[in-house]
Amino acid sequence: MYRISVDSSRCQGHARCMAFAPEAFDFDDEGYAFVPDGMAETAELSESIRRAEANCPERAVKIEEA
Ligand code: F3S
Repeated sequence: MYRISVDSSRCQGHARCMAFAPEAFDFDDEGYAFVPDGMAETAELSESIRRAEANCPERAVKIEEA
């Protein structure tokens, strides 16, 4: 199981995460990313989510093995 999250103290709203994995991220009213509840845990890590993590310039996307 993998846990996906966005570190809100790091996110600057670059939106690269959304570009790579629109199925896994959403934006709050101020343009910062978060992971909707239904996507916060996944059994299989998709390539798009790996790319979202790798391409966030602030290193705000976190993937942890749970
Ligand atoms: Fe934020 Fe990084 Fe996405 S800065 S909007 S988590 S690309």
